[in-house]
Amino acid sequence: MAEADLPLSSDAKMLTLSGLAVYTPPIREIRKHRIVGFDNRDARARPFNLLRTSFAKRIKEDGHRLIGITSATPAAGKSFLSMNLASSLARVVDEPVFLVDLDIRRASLADEIGLVPERGIDGFLDGSVDDLSTIGRRIDGTTLGIFPTIRRTRNTAELLAGERFAFMIEALRERSEAATILFDLPPAFASDDAMIILEQLDGYVLVVDSGKTTRRHVQDVLGMLQPTPCIGSILNRYRGGLGDSYGYGYGGPDYGRYYDHPEPEA
Ligand SMILES: Nc1ncnc2c1ncn2[C@@H]1O[C@H](COP(=O)(O)OP(=O)(O)O)[C@@H](O)[C@H]1O
Ligand SMILES: [Mg+2]
Repeated sequence: MAEADLPLSSDAKMLTLSGLAVYTPPIREIRKHRIVGFDNRDARARPFNLLRTSFAKRIKEDGHRLIGITSATPAAGKSFLSMNLASSLARVVDEPVFLVDLDIRRASLADEIGLVPERGIDGFLDGSVDDLSTIGRRIDGTTLGIFPTIRRTRNTAELLAGERFAFMIEALRERSEAATILFDLPPAFASDDAMIILEQLDGYVLVVDSGKTTRRHVQDVLGMLQPTPCIGSILNRYRGGLGDSYGYGYGGPDYGRYYDHPEPEA
């Protein structure tokens, strides 16, 4: 990776929600990607409201701000849940909520909101972009700021191991006005990326895919990601709930529940 100069930290400006360009996601993208957290009246937002409440309570109690969302295996619903949790959270808290796409190999947040970004977090990490605020987008009418990433398939570990990554985390932690910053992460088993990232965050939420994630997977992930605390798990069981036959009006609990992480077997 090219060693580009880091922006000076002493006089670096605050990362504020109002400093981000406003973006209005097209309704059809929101529907297509089943993002329901923005709309309180949508019955499908209900499970996310419950999730948000227990999540908000937990991180407040623990004094945590930077939280990763990961899973054992791919396609467990991390991005789906990150987006819905972040949008649901942003609806009730006065302070800004940031959502950062750090699944560099399979970045999907921009796509989910129909955004075609010119620059992403990957660019900040490789030194081609210096100002994080030019990457983030404020979702119109909300307190949610989304920081997209442009997918890259190579050398992601290098991007994450560099000092620019540490600098970015420090900037988000020390010089951003966001009360909560969620990070959509890669699956823990796919590469070292999730582990490297989580070393610098306050905690993580584990998405458990009810059809695929085994008890053994959960135990292995919990062990692997230590000492970063797992603050909870989301049981995502979308078998049967997914599908166009339900249409947009589907009102059932098309997701799972949130509970404290299972104790590893003695
Ligand atoms: N509970 C759910 N209900 C409906 N669709 C879901 C649910 N969870 C995930 N999906 C869909 O499954 C696919 C994979 O989910 P995604 O969030 O992209 O997984 P990951 O980020 O863990 O790889 C996406 O198309 C997503 O919209
Ligand atoms: Mg994803």
